[in-house]
Amino acid sequence: MTARQRLIAGNWKMYKTRAEALAFANELAAVVAVRHEQATWPQAAICAPFTALYGLAEAFAASGVSVGAQTMHQATQGAYTGEVAASMLSELDVTFVILGHSERRLYCAETDAAVAEKSVVALQAGLTPIVCVGETLADREEGRTQGVIAGQLDPVFTALGQSGIAAATLSRLVIAYEPIWAIGTGRSSTAADAQDVIGAIRTLTNKHFGREVAQAVRILYGGSVKPENIALYLGEPDIDGALVGGASLQVASFVELLEQSKGD
Ligand code: PGA
Repeated sequence: MTARQRLIAGNWKMYKTRAEALAFANELAAVVAVRHEQATWPQAAICAPFTALYGLAEAFAASGVSVGAQTMHQATQGAYTGEVAASMLSELDVTFVILGHSERRLYCAETDAAVAEKSVVALQAGLTPIVCVGETLADREEGRTQGVIAGQLDPVFTALGQSGIAAATLSRLVIAYEPIWAIGTGRSSTAADAQDVIGAIRTLTNKHFGREVAQAVRILYGGSVKPENIALYLGEPDIDGALVGGASLQVASFVELLEQSKGD
């Protein structure tokens, strides 16, 4: 029996205008308004494009659904055209921020070092980072998965360790294991393979921060999660929820993901 509250986080990527986001939010808020009070109901979050964050935070205010951004800059302010700082997100009642998603690593050259710096800044700003890690298909086929994941997390853990951030704050950290070959492909990891990697991530967390933090940190699986397969992942001891792309875009499937994630 785990004390960690499950987290189902939708990652909308570059989908939904503000109007579309608000229509989703109003429909979802009506469904979950009562149910999130139940102790077994998972925490729900929607990580949306910047343009929808303000409206979503307002629309979700009474529903218990949290709002997340999909990236942020590590500087507090400055001449970084097109970027958004942590304080600009927390001011909007944004709770989560996805960091190091594989699409950002690939298309926006987000490095492990930048993800590490951003993780520290996000926690210090009161945000909860969802730090994404994952291997390519070639990494997996050539047996490099564990090494790649450790290589991505090591700079993050080192930076957090050196930051002086208190254990209680570090415990808020969320890590998402998303094998790149499983994202948006319909080809998901087996639950056992996901548990292998996620268990190793918890062991690594333990090594850096000790047992208390390692037992509190939530670790998600992501990559073609759907209402039909989420229960398999949640049946594993170290998997605390999911980061969901495609299946988070419709209210019905997002609600079904939440339903499937209720505790006993
Ligand atoms: P997917 O995306 O659920 O559509 O595979 C997951 C993600 O990229 O976070």
